[in-house]
Amino acid sequence: MYASAIVVAAGSGSRLGAGTPKAFVPFGGSTLLAMTLRTIGTVASVAEVVIAVPSGMEPDARREAVTAGMSIPVKTIAGGKQRQDSVRIALALTSAEAELVLIHDAARPLATVAMFEQSLAQAEVYGAAIVAIPVADTLKRVLTDGTQDVPIIAGTVPRSGLWQAQTPQAFKRSLLIEAHTRALRSGIEATDDADLVEQIGVRAVVVPGSPLNLKVTTADDRWLVETIATARLR
Ligand code: CTP
Ligand code: MG
Repeated sequence: MYASAIVVAAGSGSRLGAGTPKAFVPFGGSTLLAMTLRTIGTVASVAEVVIAVPSGMEPDARREAVTAGMSIPVKTIAGGKQRQDSVRIALALTSAEAELVLIHDAARPLATVAMFEQSLAQAEVYGAAIVAIPVADTLKRVLTDGTQDVPIIAGTVPRSGLWQAQTPQAFKRSLLIEAHTRALRSGIEATDDADLVEQIGVRAVVVPGSPLNLKVTTADDRWLVETIATARLR
């Protein structure tokens, strides 16, 4: 099986507010991008990596790939306005020889090799597979429309059957191209690729994720990921 990996790293990281695009912020002696690439580099069926980065940071991304010791071909490209645009732009650069495409957020540097391998294995069988975890907390709908002095609870959302989507997500390349082409034509916007593939009638399957597969969004997440990464090295 030949798989291409897409790493989306083109966001600005406005909620982290580090002054540098999030994937390139120093992280315990490394960066989110290098940590992610180090793991992807050990996934046997991944034969190439396409990295979407902020415009002008292509050389920085290639340096991170060298730091991460990548021995497979690495392509870099300027991403787009939204994550979905960055995926579509990177997808166009993936090799037509790839049967499967794996998509991962640089912002999730703690994803395991098993998550990548299982996503690819399930996508080969079912067409689409994503890493997810069941929702553990009670869910409240909260009114924050500015008409109240404090946030007010409007109701409790039953959490049964609800899962949180993570990345990696893996797809048959032809399906993913069809989903993104249709989304572009119809103006459909989604926050993950599985949504676009669901919208062309494909039923994605779930691979077990982990609460440790954190997405670095805020400064708190940065502290958590640095702490976990340091503990894993011990
Ligand atoms: N991403 C991307 N292109 C964009 C927006 C996001 O490649 N136009 C990537 C980010 O680099 C990140 C992943 O998609 O790896 C998830 O996005 P998010 O966590 O929202 O990162 P940012 O958009 O950088 O952060 P923020 O929304 O706080 O600005
Ligand atoms: Mg964002």
